[in-house]
Amino acid sequence: MEFREYSADSDKDAVHRIWLETGWLEKDSKAQVEGMDLFVGAGKALVADLDGEAECLVLTMPGVIRHLKDDLPMSGVTGVTTSRIARKQRIAAKLTALAVARDAADGALVSGLGMFEQGYYDRLGFGTGGYEHWISFDPARLGIDAAPRVPRRITLDDWKLVHQSRLSRKRGHGSCNFTPPEMTRAEMLWAKNGFGLGYSDGEGGELSHHIWCDAKDGGEHGPYTVCWMAYETREQFLELIALLKNQGDQVMSIRMREPPGIQLQDLITQPFRQYDLTEKGKYEARASAYAYWQMRICDLPGCIARTSLPFGDARFNLKLTDPIEGLLDKDAPWRGCAGDYVVALGKSSGAETGHDDSLPTMTASVNAFTRLWLGVRPASSLRFTDDLDAPAELIEALDSVLRLPAPRPDWDF
Ligand SMILES: CC(C)(COP(=O)(O)OP(=O)(O)OC[C@H]1O[C@@H](n2cnc3c(N)ncnc32)[C@H](O)[C@@H]1OP(=O)(O)O)[C@@H](O)C(=O)NCCC(=O)NCCS
Repeated sequence: MEFREYSADSDKDAVHRIWLETGWLEKDSKAQVEGMDLFVGAGKALVADLDGEAECLVLTMPGVIRHLKDDLPMSGVTGVTTSRIARKQRIAAKLTALAVARDAADGALVSGLGMFEQGYYDRLGFGTGGYEHWISFDPARLGIDAAPRVPRRITLDDWKLVHQSRLSRKRGHGSCNFTPPEMTRAEMLWAKNGFGLGYSDGEGGELSHHIWCDAKDGGEHGPYTVCWMAYETREQFLELIALLKNQGDQVMSIRMREPPGIQLQDLITQPFRQYDLTEKGKYEARASAYAYWQMRICDLPGCIARTSLPFGDARFNLKLTDPIEGLLDKDAPWRGCAGDYVVALGKSSGAETGHDDSLPTMTASVNAFTRLWLGVRPASSLRFTDDLDAPAELIEALDSVLRLPAPRPDWDF
């Protein structure tokens, strides 16, 4: 079996077939195929051959992830797909491990992905992120009075402006940005009956705030899904919410991921009454929570050097295990970050290989340690349910030092 880089000249038909077989493309949808080609071309693509044809495709996209105030280089695993004939040969796991290894060797400090199910990517060292809330609501029930200005209509032709607006949105801890603008164009193409609304208040006419929506089920009453929302200020956020409210004479339901830091229920009138009235209906109002993204540290000293924590200090030995090693060849460009480290956390942090007998020792998988470092859960909780342990005093100290806001990528991929 050969693992190699994708070639647009010779592999296009084979990778279209993979995505058709996985159900990621609909037959005869030109927009989806165009989106796929853009997406594959925008980042890095690896394929695995069986009998001379590509039967597995793994995609990664360059970007950054924010840890408190610093943006660290990251790589997003944006597609892992195996054709029907090639399943369960460990091809996808090994090709994904190689893709992560190559990007780590090229400088990605972190790798992230959206998982199809819990467990699969744990074998590659990924740890599960926090819950994302998805809220479905009747826009007429939005309890805000703001009167929005007439927005501009955003179309596919605006993809570069849209991408720029996404990149410059208000961002917080854990937020991800992906560099290639073609990624945004592909995502816009994938929205069914996609449409956008927004405002160009930027000094040079840039798109300052906008929403991009999917009106999949098409009818005049929705439901609509907000694929993303980009804004920089409170006023801009409220103007976009007011725009959604303005659709409420006709549209019965809008579904969106709760924006970072916002409790959307604050803006909804009588939410529980709506839940009961619409239960199991086409326009059901509800709030759901799913933890569907995962991250892993690829370079421990690199990540810790970029970590600045204002709440005190902790120094400890870390015995880190990394399961990805088992899926990589001996000559892979990077083989995970297992090892013994001395870690210092505080305003200025660092990690170096070694052991200091005078310090307490933590044992952890890279999966669990990534969750700790990102602030998905504190050390005292991870000790209960994940592969992380340390003496009680160290756990207590880390609970105090690693007081982080909930990490939120704010970009599904
Ligand atoms: C997901 C997918 C890529 C896996 O491809 P594959 O080449 O068959 O996967 P692999 O052979 O590497 O892995 C299969 C192994 O993973 C295991 N596995 C699958 N789901 C798992 C889970 N949730 N937890 C733990 N192990 C899991 C299988 O049991 C199997 O184990 P085995 O090797 O011991 O038999 C393939 O099913 C696919 O293309 N699905 C549709 C597209 C998709 O959902 N992609 C994932 C996007 S995040």
